[in-house]
Amino acid sequence: MTITLLFIIFIACPLASKGGKWTYNGPDGEHDWSSKYPFCGGAFQSPIDFQTQLLRYDPNLPPIQVQNYNLSTNEQLTLGNTGHSVLLSLPSHMYISSLPHRYSAAQLHFHWGSSSLLTGSEHTVNGNRFAGEMHVVHFNSDKYPNISMAVDKHDGLAVLGVFIEIGEFNPAFDKFFKYINGIKYRDQKIQVPAFNVRALLPARLDEYYRYDGSLTTPPCYPSVLWTVFRKPVTISRKQFLALATALYASHAQDSATVPLHGNYRKPQLTDNRVVLVSFKDGLHSIFSVASPFQRKQVIQKLLVGDLADLADEGLYQLLPKLSPQPGVEKKWKKNKKQGQWSQATQKQQWSNNKVPSNTGYSSSIGKKTPTPWYMGALGTDKEMCFVSLEENVVHQLERYHAKGLMVEALREVVFPELNLRSYLHCRSDLDLQTIKQLIKGRSRDEAVELEQSLTKAMLRQIRRQIKQHRNPNMETTMGHSQATFPKDYNSALTYHRPQRVEWED
Ligand SMILES: *[C@@H]1O[C@H](CO)[C@@H](O)[C@H](O)[C@H]1NC(C)=O
Ligand SMILES: *[C@@H]1O[C@H](CO)[C@@H](O)[C@H](O)[C@H]1NC(C)=O
Repeated sequence: MTITLLFIIFIACPLASKGGKWTYNGPDGEHDWSSKYPFCGGAFQSPIDFQTQLLRYDPNLPPIQVQNYNLSTNEQLTLGNTGHSVLLSLPSHMYISSLPHRYSAAQLHFHWGSSSLLTGSEHTVNGNRFAGEMHVVHFNSDKYPNISMAVDKHDGLAVLGVFIEIGEFNPAFDKFFKYINGIKYRDQKIQVPAFNVRALLPARLDEYYRYDGSLTTPPCYPSVLWTVFRKPVTISRKQFLALATALYASHAQDSATVPLHGNYRKPQLTDNRVVLVSFKDGLHSIFSVASPFQRKQVIQKLLVGDLADLADEGLYQLLPKLSPQPGVEKKWKKNKKQGQWSQATQKQQWSNNKVPSNTGYSSSIGKKTPTPWYMGALGTDKEMCFVSLEENVVHQLERYHAKGLMVEALREVVFPELNLRSYLHCRSDLDLQTIKQLIKGRSRDEAVELEQSLTKAMLRQIRRQIKQHRNPNMETTMGHSQATFPKDYNSALTYHRPQRVEWED
């Protein structure tokens, strides 16, 4: 159902006819991309900043395995200047074999800084930008015949991202860098002999960041399963400067030459996404994810109404961590002021379902600890994520006069599905309030029972928070900002060794 609807949305948006020129600077710069390419202003965009608090260690992420990357020198590859990047075509017999589907290679390209500003990676790590970034683009060849058919599908693409820093000379990159003077101008192309593409990747393919995102250039389809390797590769300063100064974004015949550099997009909102990481060391206070299996179990129980024991059985494990988030309050107010609440949202009365303010229990807490920070932190920001996601798409549909039935379908089916799916795959940090809303929309009979059981679980967690908040000497195992995070939450998550379970539609 989701796939069908998404497909309808993609073909319903008059994207093809709305295409146009885009740049990284000037009037057609990224602030304007969404006017011609609506997805650029939508949800699940890339790149993002890999902030430590977004990271969740997932012990089930296997090392990336690539096949047929060692190409024969008899093969020819097309090296081209797209006006936005330098792009090397790749044959589809190269593929990634360690993902749920086979993802076959299509091309690789680069993002980089300039000769005066050496930093130009797209993804950043705690705000730090590398010199450049390589993207090896693959498409889901199990499901789609070619990349054009895959590019706008939610499971269409898988991109390997490689950070580039300045250091040792890199002979692998010179296999094609040495030809870039042949493609100085936009739309120029040349044939170059193939080589071992594996040598462009970092030595270790087992350490990476993983999240659901988008193309980082128009049309910005949210179709990419991102794998960004933790360790950068190096190129020499000379190699970097050659890349940063050799190319033009303009055509050879254009009177004005426009240099091609600084071709990176700024970090995008994380929405309610989390970033899974395959490595644990070197990160303080990093939390494990509840396994997809665990989440699936809970959601299934919620859906079939098997609720009796849920509250006692550790439903709280699925609550997101409660840490003070400066700016949450501001964001909430700002969005509320815009008055863009959708009908569905109003109907569901989000505000009534915020952390219990009208039960006897919570008001007695309220007396003793007036307005504790976590009361505001729980719920609102996560709800906002969901609401803004919905609003974004609705807004875009409005712009194309495609509102109406489509919007209804979105609200009723796509959003719940979309969010639940990414939640189940541990790629989103929806909280129970949100899940409650999603599920309530689907199985009305159980709403009351569900409400009670979830509220109970939530109250229990809040009680635990308060207890720890008052007894700082209990905060021994956690670092600074997570000090109030319940101790048993973390151990509960890591205790359940996830059984691998296939979760197909
Ligand atoms: C790549 O293939 C070539 C033969 O085409 C071989 O000589 C070379 O050792 C291979 N490299 C690696 C790293 O496997
Ligand atoms: C991709 O596949 C579709 C469907 O088979 C086909 O119509 C289209 O021409 C193909 N595009 C390219 C670029 O090969």
